[in-house]
Amino acid sequence: MKKILVTFGTRPEAIKLAPIIKELNKNDEFIVKVCITAQHREMLDNVLKIFNIKADYDLDIMKQDQDLYDITSNILIKMKDILNEFEPDLVIVHGDTTTTFAVTLAGFYKKIDVAHVEAGLRTYNIYSPWPEEANRRLTSILTKYHFAPTKKAKENLINEGIKKENIIVTGNSVVDALLMILNKIEKDKNFKKRIESNLFIQIPKDVLKSKFILVTGHRRENFGRGFQNICNAIKEIALKNKNINILYPVHLNPNVQNPVNKILKDIKNVYLLKPLDYPEFVYLMSKSFMILTDSGGIQEEAPSLKKPVLLMRETTERPEALETGFVKLVGTKKEDIVREAEKIIKNRKIFYMANNPYGDGKASLRIVNFLKKSL
Ligand code: UD1
Ligand code: UDP
Repeated sequence: MKKILVTFGTRPEAIKLAPIIKELNKNDEFIVKVCITAQHREMLDNVLKIFNIKADYDLDIMKQDQDLYDITSNILIKMKDILNEFEPDLVIVHGDTTTTFAVTLAGFYKKIDVAHVEAGLRTYNIYSPWPEEANRRLTSILTKYHFAPTKKAKENLINEGIKKENIIVTGNSVVDALLMILNKIEKDKNFKKRIESNLFIQIPKDVLKSKFILVTGHRRENFGRGFQNICNAIKEIALKNKNINILYPVHLNPNVQNPVNKILKDIKNVYLLKPLDYPEFVYLMSKSFMILTDSGGIQEEAPSLKKPVLLMRETTERPEALETGFVKLVGTKKEDIVREAEKIIKNRKIFYMANNPYGDGKASLRIVNFLKKSL
């Protein structure tokens, strides 16, 4: 029996690995253990609760306002003991966080094979997004199996000299997670009611039924001026469009909390919320008029929900979403964000609504089928 250690640390990694853990657990030929670095604490624990996943190992590394040195060094040291104890045949990591890179490096130091989910995304600018572009490129050098969400991601890896036979195009498992939640909302009335009552705690009923824009943001390279611009843009959109509400679940990073609260706290049609559990957030995305974000995962979810996204970043590693027209890259200048938002407010039909380029909800099955053949 092969031993697999699935390791992650932040909210999006947990959402995207949950369907893969569930799929792995259906197979008796694997001994599967879950190790969380807890680079995020509350935001990670919420996802584990929703998907009913229990961590076998918890490195518990999160500190308030942690820096990249804290995260990398704590994970590297603590992973050594976990790898020595469990001695996995394979470590699975996801994406481009500092957890992803540090865990991969820990595996490499023990010459354990590592499989990388969501491999091959690139901007080819190591400072944008920062540090994610460097994390994922460093990870690709050290990993054996590369689960690429799209053909484009596979091409990037091939161009970097990675062996074709170790790259598998799977789709993105975020679509698997999203469809799981949407199906449950559709089929389970109590689940839907619970989501709505949880949302009513933070959002008045009439606001939830109104036309609203959903906002999220957290990128490190936007901290400081970028974030102030984003908040000032949101303020202007809110003041110009009093008939539209803006719902903003604010990331717990103090570098996000501080400017957001300072600039947006007292605006009547802006609702600053605590980070939402995944089902509540999916529900809000599905009811929203448009989404303003700098998030990676939301760009991959919005096409399934047919929602336009203005991406408040300078670069994206997800060109497929731009090509299908769901996502428009608007940068972080206030005037650009306001202008593009106004265009959609005036005429939402400008967005071409194609199928989701990130998959069909079967990425987890493809990944596990590959591992059954290859391990
Ligand atoms: C991290 C990842 C980023 C990913 C994002 C997803 C790195 C360097 N960054 O960014 O790639 O897109 O997660 O959200 O890997 N905090 C809490 N509770 C939580 C989570 C965060 O209080 O549950 C606060 C803490 O003060 C923490 C800070 O947020 O120190 C920053 O967390 P960190 O993981 O370093 O950065 P993120 O911006 O969340
Ligand atoms: N999300 C969530 N609650 C929120 C905001 C976002 O569950 O309040 C989900 C969202 O649907 C997506 C993921 O978290 O699946 C994105 O996480 P984030 O923006 O933190 O990270 P990124 O995708 O940029 O790495």
